[in-house]
Amino acid sequence: MSDPKATIYEADPHTQAKHRILRAYLERWLPILDRQAQVVKRAKHRLLYVDGFAGAGEYEDRVPGSPLIPIETAVGHSHQFTCPIEIRLIEKRRDRVDHLRKLIKEKKASLVGTATLVIPDPIEGDCEEEVRKLVSACTQNGQPLGPAFFFLDQFGYSSFSMDLVNTILRNEICEVFSYLNWNLLHPFMSDQTKHPGITKAFGGDEWRQVLGLSGQEKENRFRQVYLDALRTRGGARYAYPFAMRDSNNRVIYWLFFCTNNIRGLEEMKRAMWSVDRSGGFEFSDKFVSDRSSMFEYGDVDLARDLVGELAGQTLAVKDIGEYALMNTPAYKYLEALGVMEREGQVRAVAPPTGRRAGAFKDFPNMLVEVRRLAKETQGALFGA
Ligand SMILES: C[S@@+](CC[C@H](N)C(=O)[O-])C[C@H]1O[C@@H](n2cnc3c(N)ncnc32)[C@H](O)[C@@H]1O
Repeated sequence: MSDPKATIYEADPHTQAKHRILRAYLERWLPILDRQAQVVKRAKHRLLYVDGFAGAGEYEDRVPGSPLIPIETAVGHSHQFTCPIEIRLIEKRRDRVDHLRKLIKEKKASLVGTATLVIPDPIEGDCEEEVRKLVSACTQNGQPLGPAFFFLDQFGYSSFSMDLVNTILRNEICEVFSYLNWNLLHPFMSDQTKHPGITKAFGGDEWRQVLGLSGQEKENRFRQVYLDALRTRGGARYAYPFAMRDSNNRVIYWLFFCTNNIRGLEEMKRAMWSVDRSGGFEFSDKFVSDRSSMFEYGDVDLARDLVGELAGQTLAVKDIGEYALMNTPAYKYLEALGVMEREGQVRAVAPPTGRRAGAFKDFPNMLVEVRRLAKETQGALFGA
């Protein structure tokens, strides 16, 4: 959507879906990092949530906006946080900052005694400039930026640069969850005045290769080129796209999750799977758009895809897991390995003594051979 004139407006179902994912992720991310912090015990430790495009903090009918989500998640959580959670909010429009300020003040008043939340006054400013200031301030103070989660929920597609993503991700335990609106972008791609903005978003102009394409091919190529840029220029070891589609299965926008931690990717995929799909929208990811919904993708589908892609290779269990998380809709894979072992599609190479068939969880480094059964090969040969 483009920016509405009003300070506060109605939250459409897609926005609410985005919020449910954010909430589901933070519910898992915050306690995991808090527990890690207890082990590491670094001085000045804190968990940081940065909302670079914070909005007014709420929508019509007091529907909470993204700035309230980490607050509500932390306050309502069954986990007892030991590490402070710092929430930094940035918003460009003065009317929205004013509203957000009031809202945060009210929230803070109701949070007296909740020592773990640190919420500085929201900043009126540009996301890119303010995030850069925040990163440099940490560097100057000798404080690590991470663990930190940056929600870059722009309108449109060109309000932050690929270099900003890199500035964040080159710090340890930092993640970016960002938004890119395909609906607003693709109808105007031939308009040259838009090109500098797209180039800024990519950090280069390789996106121009899609200009001569159309339809699904254009969309797929564009998404792939952006993903490649997130990995090569943005510094994301793992970058994963989720598409929000309308009821005609057309992509409205993508959410891109970038992390350098495979566990983070696993939790974000779990969060995606946990959202309900009411409201006439559908999530899918890049690998299921031609088949069905990602929510219909089960252990048997994953087993089939793993055999299809990895047959003939011998890999550690954890590497198969990484492959599944990066390249398929699945967020869990141990069950699929169990199915495959039962079917003879994987064979444990030199399994530890006493290991039961189907047990993979405790053996991440165990090597397994992925095999295509003779029957499947024959089926493929005869086109069955
Ligand atoms: C999609 S809305 C954010 C919604 C909010 N994240 C939520 O989920 O409740 C985008 C917000 O970014 C603000 N904005 C636009 N350009 C910006 C910029 N360069 N820096 C910071 N904020 C900006 C807009 O005024 C708008 O409030």
